[in-house]
Amino acid sequence: MTLRGFRLTDVPFVASIVAEALHEHYDPSLYASLGAEWPDGFLLAADSHEVPVGFLLGVNQVEHEARVLMFAVERGHRTQGVGTLLMSTFFDRCRARGFRRITLEVRVSNATAIRFYTRYRFSVVDLLRSYYSDGENGYQMARDLS
Ligand SMILES: CC(C)(COP(=O)(O)OP(=O)(O)OC[C@H]1O[C@@H](n2cnc3c(N)ncnc32)[C@H](O)[C@@H]1OP(=O)(O)O)[C@@H](O)C(=O)NCCC(=O)NCCS
Repeated sequence: MTLRGFRLTDVPFVASIVAEALHEHYDPSLYASLGAEWPDGFLLAADSHEVPVGFLLGVNQVEHEARVLMFAVERGHRTQGVGTLLMSTFFDRCRARGFRRITLEVRVSNATAIRFYTRYRFSVVDLLRSYYSDGENGYQMARDLS
């Protein structure tokens, strides 16, 4: 597994991971525009054929803060450490930029992701009512960087 930055040719693979793992369908142009401002915050894990199997898209919308906007690993590649590799590298990139805090949102029903984030010392800071398009509540989680 190798980590690398996002390329325009990755869009179909990223969109397919998003559809399968996050059940969302975005305009293909969204990925490049979200990644443009902070390219180092858009990390892809690719297999030996260079095909993306997971990614983490982080953005910097608030001063000194990063926000994990999307994070997903293809089903067949989960629980093999890909998510951990993406998240720990993302932490390194955040520290390199001098960020003090990382935030994210997660569905209240997503026990797997909440456990993962808790292992990374994120904690729930807010309940976001009807945050998702299907009406489900979300948690905002955050952690400080030292
Ligand atoms: C959340 C997500 C990205 C984690 O990715 P992942 O690649 O499975 O993450 P890892 O393999 O690094 O870790 C997952 C678990 O597997 C365990 N694990 C890691 N490597 C392992 C291995 N070789 N053998 C067995 N278990 C392993 C980890 O300890 C971890 O356990 P924990 O969560 O109980 O602490 C993934 O589950 C996913 O894509 N989910 C669907 C999309 C989603 O919910 N995204 C978050 C939206 S907010």
